[in-house]
Order: sequence, then structure tokens, then C-alpha cells
Amino acid sequence: MNERERWATRVGLILAMAGNAVGLGNFLRFPVQAAKHGGGAFMIPYFISFLLLGIPLMWVEWAIGRYGGNRGHGSTPGMFQALWNHPIAKYLGVIGFVGPFLIVIYYAYIESWTLAFSVFSLLGKFHRLAAGQPGGETLQPFWDFVLGFIGAKDAGTLLHPSLWAYGFFVITVFLNIWIIARGISRGIETLAKIAMPMLFIFAVILAIRVLTLGAPVSPEHSVWKGLEFLWTPQLDKLADWKIWLAAAGQIFFTLSVGMGSIHTYASYLKSKDDIVVSGLATASTNEFAEVVLGASIAIPAAVAFFGLQTAQEIAAGGAFNLGFVSMPAILTQMPMGELFGFLWFGLLFFAGITSAVALIQPTVAFFEDELGWPRKKVALILGIALFVLAHIPIFVNGALDEMDFWMGNFFITLFALVEIVIFVWIFGMDRAWEEMHRGAEMQIPRIFYYIMKYITPLMLLGIIGGWLFTEWIPTLKQSSPGIWLARGVVFGGIVWGWIWIYRAFRTRKQGAS
Ligand code: TRP
Repeated sequence: MNERERWATRVGLILAMAGNAVGLGNFLRFPVQAAKHGGGAFMIPYFISFLLLGIPLMWVEWAIGRYGGNRGHGSTPGMFQALWNHPIAKYLGVIGFVGPFLIVIYYAYIESWTLAFSVFSLLGKFHRLAAGQPGGETLQPFWDFVLGFIGAKDAGTLLHPSLWAYGFFVITVFLNIWIIARGISRGIETLAKIAMPMLFIFAVILAIRVLTLGAPVSPEHSVWKGLEFLWTPQLDKLADWKIWLAAAGQIFFTLSVGMGSIHTYASYLKSKDDIVVSGLATASTNEFAEVVLGASIAIPAAVAFFGLQTAQEIAAGGAFNLGFVSMPAILTQMPMGELFGFLWFGLLFFAGITSAVALIQPTVAFFEDELGWPRKKVALILGIALFVLAHIPIFVNGALDEMDFWMGNFFITLFALVEIVIFVWIFGMDRAWEEMHRGAEMQIPRIFYYIMKYITPLMLLGIIGGWLFTEWIPTLKQSSPGIWLARGVVFGGIVWGWIWIYRAFRTRKQGAS
């Protein structure tokens, strides 16, 4: 077996893990979810989900990952087999092997828009759109521009993206694969050491710019109204369980848990590397980027320029409306808007690329560790696969959202349940607790022993039950060519994963005998 790679430094590891978690979810998805679910009403369920689901799963995934990694497995099929000696265990790990790759098929496309839009900002493209309409208070030209870019204007089954969208996608795939091919410490860790500080600097500059806007258009619209909306707790809404589902969903997505991605990064730890403090540092960094920085940019800016009601309508239209339509419209009205536009899309690009590589690496690790393929070969094959498969979300209307439903909502919760049951119930909570604390720089408060054993799994069951009725069944009833194609890719991917798991573990046994 090949010698497994390792993270070179502790700082690099934490930045890479933070890069994994901090993504488009923090700056686009979070503000939209918070605004859609009543601002302050969202925040209490959100923080409770962070404590009872997010942090426990973060520690569980680091521990599973390091345990598997030390036994030569960088992806969840092998990790589950190491934890649970049962023929089915490895097949339950399929989501952590093919799931992240199924996400990156559409995530990389969105990542490429951020690169394109940062270049457009610098070239003054958005200012030219604004110049077409004196006063510039309407969003229409910016909306038209986005639709033209991705080719969604009067699209039927097929989208017709612009050459710009296609070209930037090609560049983005190339960049992602190039980093993957360089490996863990030379590729991913080096990227994180550059991109994460830049991301934070860009975000802090933008947050300060937005928070000092005051009331730029009319006295009744101000950034403070936006902050007040997000930060005034509304206890009377706590009984609305749909808000709880949305909050829990956001915690999963933003922390990158429930998908095998954290496990793979943790598999490159040494056996006595601390997990407790590093895992907590990763989760806290993500929350800082989300609730401090993410909450202080797109929503307060939209409230200051358009008023609370319009801002909520913009957010209800989704992440693209808020990030790619409303933000350019606002930035063109500011002095040095070209520069701020570049900072906004640049920060999204850094957030996106550090998460995209984290979504590719689990699949790379599977072929390296379980089949002994050289990294560069795997990177090349997966790069081609990513490029080819991405044509589905790029060209087929409705495929992107459908894939996001399955991967960002459905399987993420099911897989989280599977992994925590295997770890705390089958492997055993006492051994799990000991495993998490090996080399730990701090004791986890004892109450988390019981949270991990009972509360987190029960909450997951509750969420799965809730979603089954509110989202899963209604979504399953939808039908269109794009939707069916997306389902084909997702389920085809899983079956393909099972075949490879079967082959990899069979070959290994023969090799050993
Ligand atoms: N957490 C990232 C974001 O906020 C997205 C992401 C990366 C992810 N890896 C993941 C989501 C694994 C789910 C599972 O954008």
C-alpha cells in the first residue's frame, strides 16, 4: 500500500478544514435561509442545532476519519468496515465516497460563476448595466444579465449558457483538478493557506463597508434595520417546526457534515493529533464566517438600499437573486463599486474553491487507498468525469436544483444518521469517547457523551421524519426531463459506487491471501 499523505502543519490543517466548511453556504445560503425564516426567529433553532447536531457530528467525523485513516482508509466505505466488521458496513459508506462528487458536479459550476463575476466587476460590466437606467434602482437589468449568462431566459428543457459561462467553467474545473493533483499538503493545504486569509480580509472589508453605509437611499431604510431583523430573537416562533428543519439543514450544509468530506480530511491526521480542539476551532471559524461576516453583508446591504420588505422578497427568490443580482445592483451605486464587486465575488470564489476540492478529495482517496491508483491518474480521470457530467446541470433545466435536493438535503441527513449509529451504537460510545480523546488537548464536557449517544440520533430521526412529509414526498412527485436525468445521475452514481466498493474489497482480499 502507498504511504499515506499527511497535513504538513497544524495551522494548515485547520485552515484546510475551515476551507472545507466555509463555502458558498456561508455567504449565500445562510442569509437566504435566515431571511426566509423570519430573521431573528431562525437564529435560536440555528444555534441549538449547532450545539446538538453540528458540534457532535464534527467530532464524530474527525474521529471516524482519523481512525480509518490510520488503518489505511481515506473514505467512508473502508472506515465503516474498520469500525464495524460486517459485510454490509462498507456498502453503507457509499454516500461518503460518491456523494461529495455528486455535489461538486453542480457546485463547481456555481463556483465558476463567482470567478466570472469577479472578472466582470473589475471590467466594469455591472456599471455599464446600471448606466442603462438612470437612478438605477431597479434590479431588472441585473436579473436579465444573470439569466442571459446561464441561458435561462425562455428556456425549455435545455438551457443555452453563454460562452462566458462555459469558458469560465472550463477554467474552474482545470484549477480544481490541478490543486487536487498536487496532493494534500502541496495542493489543498497550500491553497487554504492563501485563500482563507484572503477570504477573511475581503469579507471584513466588505462587512465594514456595508455596516458604515448608514441609510444611503432614504432615512427609513438603513443597515441597522437589517441587523435588527436578523438579531432580534422571536420566541413566539419557536414552535414553528419548519424553521427548525431549515435551521438544522443549514447547519449540515455549512459545516460540511453528513457527506464524508470531513472524514477524508481527518484521515490525513496522525494517530495522536488532537481532534477535540481542532474540530471545535473548525466549527467556530465556520460560524464566525457565517453569522458574523455572512450576516453582515448581503442582507443588511439589501435592506439599506431596497428596504426590509423588498430585501426579504429578494432573499425569497433564492441565493442567486441575493448574491448575483441584488449585490451587483447595490455595488454599482457605491464609490469604487468595481473594487467592492471584485471583493464580493472574489471572496465567494475563495470560499467556493476551498470547498470544491474538499468535495473531490473523498473520491480520490477511495481510488488511491482501496485500489492503489496513483493520485495524478485519479485526478485526471475524475477531472474528465466532472467535466463531462457537469454538462447535465449546465445544459438541462431543473437538473441543478434536483441534484441539490438529493445531495444537499436527503442523503446528508440519512448518512449522518448512519454514521452516528455505527460509531456510537455499534462501535460503542465508550470506545468512541476514548477515540475522540486520543491525543486531545482538552476534555469534551461530559454532557456531550449523552448528547452524542441519545440526543443527536433522536434529533436526526425527528428531522428525517419532518422532511419526509414537508419536502421529500412533494419533491418526489415532481417530474420533468431535467428532474429525471438528475435522479438518474444520483442513483446511477450510487450503484456505480457500490460496484467499485465490491471490486475494491474483493481484490484486496485476493491480494492478501
Ligand atoms: N460547507 C460548504 C458550504 O458551506 C459546502 C460543502 C463542502 C459541503 N463540503 C460539503 C456540503 C460536504 C455538504 C457536504 O458551501
